[in-house]
Amino acid sequence: MFLTFEGIDGSGKSTQARRLADALRKAGHDVILTREPGGSPGAEEIRRLVLEGDADRWSPETEILLFTAARRDHLERTIRPALGAGQVVISDRFADSTRMYQGLRGPDLRQTVDRLHDLMIGVEPDLTFLIDIDPALGLSRAKGRHGHEERFEDMGLPMQARMRAGFLDLARAAPDRFRVIDGSRDADRIAAEVLTLTLATLA
Ligand code: ADP
Ligand code: TYD
Repeated sequence: MFLTFEGIDGSGKSTQARRLADALRKAGHDVILTREPGGSPGAEEIRRLVLEGDADRWSPETEILLFTAARRDHLERTIRPALGAGQVVISDRFADSTRMYQGLRGPDLRQTVDRLHDLMIGVEPDLTFLIDIDPALGLSRAKGRHGHEERFEDMGLPMQARMRAGFLDLARAAPDRFRVIDGSRDADRIAAEVLTLTLATLA
């Protein structure tokens, strides 16, 4: 089973991905917790290229190629082997992030993202948790955190608000795959809901 967490910056994805991995392991499942961009040695190298440096370091088109290259490596080296071995794979972000972060930055870019996805990736998760949160709350949480990986967090509130709406559109278009989670609540309540929904799907 392949599970992903999606949402805007600071929504609580990493926290919930980690908590779900811990809870499933306690319940006896063999779990790998991974992330994008990254999740394999080559993709972690690409992560540094895309997350550090000036906001205009790459064009949106180049970013689509870099994130998709990282995803392809992650899929080949980490995700497919783990699924093949019967493990539950939990990824903190996957292709929906490229659909939003790159796809919303120009009129034709979403189509480019989708075409490249079909060509090079071609898989969707079994279940995606969209952690939905007000962008101001997400940004204040994210800002309280790290230092040098902030190319996208610097995009500002209006772009985060567009992405929040875009993620909700993706969820409406694929209701079988998505579960929309209210991320403004405390982490324990969210974790309990995510675990219940996951166990219902695993059963
Ligand atoms: P993301 O991976 O979506 O950017 P994180 O899980 O890293 O989000 O959370 C961002 C920050 O907010 C962290 O400092 C984390 O401890 C905190 N946080 C996560 N979930 C909650 C929550 N439900 N309520 C309050 N703070 C939270
Ligand atoms: P992440 O480490 O999950 O950041 P955060 O914890 O702040 O949510 O992801 C790093 C950044 O990379 C995040 O701002 C979103 C961006 N990103 C893209 O722009 N496209 C992508 O395809 C992916 C996977 C991430």
